[in-house]
Amino acid sequence: MKIFLDTASVKEIQDGVDLGLVDGVTTNPTLAAKEAKGGKTFSDIVKEIIKITPGPVSVEVVATDLDGMLKQAGRISQLGSNAVVKIPMTTEGLKAIKILKEKRVAVNCTLIFNSLQALFAAKAGAEFVSPFVGRLDDIGQDGMQIIEEIRAIFNNYKIQTNILVASIRNPVHVLRAAVIGADVVTMPYDVLMKLPHHPKTDEGLARFLEDWKKVSPDGSFPL
Ligand code: G3P
Repeated sequence: MKIFLDTASVKEIQDGVDLGLVDGVTTNPTLAAKEAKGGKTFSDIVKEIIKITPGPVSVEVVATDLDGMLKQAGRISQLGSNAVVKIPMTTEGLKAIKILKEKRVAVNCTLIFNSLQALFAAKAGAEFVSPFVGRLDDIGQDGMQIIEEIRAIFNNYKIQTNILVASIRNPVHVLRAAVIGADVVTMPYDVLMKLPHHPKTDEGLARFLEDWKKVSPDGSFPL
């Protein structure tokens, strides 16, 4: 399962890349708005993200009509070979995905809230589909259930489109995505940083270091 960071923060992405854990990045207008400060334009930020990320970087169009989406998609795809165009799951969006597929432009279809939307986006030619699990949990539905359904549907028909689990809120979402067999999870930096930690690891290490003092009272390592 690939791990993407869901952020527009260059600092967070660089840190995740240095850890060797980040395979790609997803951004959206809300995440861009958080970074739109300090004199840097969104264009500068996106160019930097595309440069430092070792894999796909999704950048979202903000037009909602077909012509506007295609124009913005063209500009996004020219930013780098790893740029992926994020298109919303609408009927205009489906038309855009079909045309972009013919032009070999990679698309991530976003704002997916049920499994048939994912099937339609895949049939239109999306390389990634992004179901939003956390936002479904927020309204009392089990978001991960649609990941199970999408996995089953894609397996039934041997669909190659990547299931990119989005709106991740906690490590349990990540675990469930991995057990189901999702292709990618995109998560905020704070969730990523929780994943390598376990209190028993910290406790075990503290005990080993304490016991080591009995072998080497000055803490030196004699080998
Ligand atoms: O990038 C799309 C998605 O991950 C948004 O997550 O937390 O705003 O529901 P959230």
